[in-house]
Amino acid sequence: MEFQELITARHSVRAYLDKPVPEEVIAQVLDEARHCASWSNTRGYMLGVATGDRLHRLSERYIDAWEKFVKESGVKGSQGDSVFPDGDFETWKKYPEQLRGRAIANGKTFYGHLNIMRGDDVARLAQQRDNYEFFGAPVIILVFVHRGLLPFTAQDAGIMLAHLMLSATYHGLATVPLGNLATWRHPADAEFEVPEDYALITGLAMGYEDTSAQINTYRAEHPSIPLVEPKNN
Ligand SMILES: Cc1cc2nc3c(=O)[nH]c(=O)nc-3n(C[C@H](O)[C@H](O)[C@H](O)COP(=O)(O)O)c2cc1C
Repeated sequence: MEFQELITARHSVRAYLDKPVPEEVIAQVLDEARHCASWSNTRGYMLGVATGDRLHRLSERYIDAWEKFVKESGVKGSQGDSVFPDGDFETWKKYPEQLRGRAIANGKTFYGHLNIMRGDDVARLAQQRDNYEFFGAPVIILVFVHRGLLPFTAQDAGIMLAHLMLSATYHGLATVPLGNLATWRHPADAEFEVPEDYALITGLAMGYEDTSAQINTYRAEHPSIPLVEPKNN
């Protein structure tokens, strides 16, 4: 695969085939992802990789937390309560005005693509729920970053994940990062021995794309990278 082809082929996939990814392929993708740059080469991130029963237990815990949360009308409760968001980072935080517009525009085209009308809460909730079933992906990766060197560890994790997603694409796999999974921390703690200094920043689903699924024909916009104006010195 030419680099140009590879980098444009990667897109977020939200419906997967019921087909396991061989362990050696997962290992190869992880091995290739390590060739990334890092802040002082500190590599302050760790991954929790789940497949099979562990993945299903994780999904059940997320669905349970999410359903209770929706039932309570999304009221945020005290930290540590397993029903209400207990994430290390506030995924539910209001976006700054400038960035909010972009997220809303993306949401509109995405739901439009799925023929989900504005105000159709049932369909929207069903779509959100799919996140916690990991869109049927056979591999889920939880990404933890060291709290002591933020924001650089988060930056490093992003760089590493970009490598990982491109490697996966190269090997015929599809991915979607799942920031939603950072909303709850307790499912991760039930399945992994996470060192105290590490915070859950995102998830990532990986598997084989279901090319017959309408949702997977959605393509997000990739506008030019904004540049700040140089000063007229
Ligand atoms: C850190 C991160 C978290 C994300 N979380 C979610 C998520 O929870 N659910 C989802 O459907 N997409 C999620 N996405 C995918 C983005 O919506 C997607 O990358 C963006 O719309 C651009 O589309 P593309 O990945 O197809 O290029 C996430 C992306 C990133 C980088």
